[in-house]
Amino acid sequence: MNEFYQKDIISIKDFSKDQLEKIFESTDKIISLNPIDRREICKGKTLGYLFYEPSTRTRLSFEAAMASIGGNSLGISDITSSSTQKGESLADTVRIISIYSDAMVLRHPLDGSSRFAAEVSDKPVINAGSGTEEHPTQAIQDLYTIKKEKRKIDGLKIGIVGDLKYGRTVYSLLHGLGNYDVDVRLISPESLRIRSDSTYEIKKKLDYTESTNIEDHIDDLDVLYVTRIQKERFPDEEEYLKVKGSYVVGLDLLQQMKDDSIILHPLPRIDEISTDIDKTKNAKYFQQAEYGKYTRAALLGLTLNENGF
Ligand code: NCD
Repeated sequence: MNEFYQKDIISIKDFSKDQLEKIFESTDKIISLNPIDRREICKGKTLGYLFYEPSTRTRLSFEAAMASIGGNSLGISDITSSSTQKGESLADTVRIISIYSDAMVLRHPLDGSSRFAAEVSDKPVINAGSGTEEHPTQAIQDLYTIKKEKRKIDGLKIGIVGDLKYGRTVYSLLHGLGNYDVDVRLISPESLRIRSDSTYEIKKKLDYTESTNIEDHIDDLDVLYVTRIQKERFPDEEEYLKVKGSYVVGLDLLQQMKDDSIILHPLPRIDEISTDIDKTKNAKYFQQAEYGKYTRAALLGLTLNENGF
């Protein structure tokens, strides 16, 4: 039996390096299949989704992924138009979605929400962002992008810049990178450093340095992973205004980077990468969004087929 069958995807910490590599191989397979064979993988299966926070790429890439493997999707993308407005609980809403689907994708502002949903759902739950805690499918997509674009992950120097305190993609990526031999440079304003409750666990698996100055590292990096300052998660707008626009990656900075370095971003981008960068060969964030469709198709194919595909 395929080990991912009917498994929840809650945290990247639940995946070993071997398992990540298997998902990458399955993603390669999805890409190589012709569209007709691809549509056999989840023919007749339904993906449910429930988004308590805004999303463009994550929801659409799951829908596009499910369609590409022959399945369909239904769900709630705008919670204000659902019975949550009448006071329906998360537990009941999750139960209902799980009745109508074979697996469900959840995004919710609270840490622990996906774990909770997995307890009440009898169908597999996929965490598409739980508070500031995790976004495991984004990390799988990020790791896959690095592997495809740099041909390896081991041995790379990876800078992660921006909001390291509230950015959940950062935590999932760091735990994912912990499976590899990489040199990580964390770059953020002092007030947005990685949360100290996570550093103990991350330090056990990963070597990293912390700094506030992107210029100290820029010429040495193979990968620059840029993140958005998470305005909506600041308890106080004043604090946000102090750090807004702290880092802007523009052509001047790109000139200092290695010729074959790549720039990633989970998106949405606000102002932290100048649009001048988009047309350069180093900009890989739109490619990264495309890989997200294939990695998610692979995950769904594995979760929903007892014998894999
Ligand atoms: C991220 C998220 O929701 O955490 N978006 C995404 O899924 N690509 C990043 C962000 O909102 O900044």
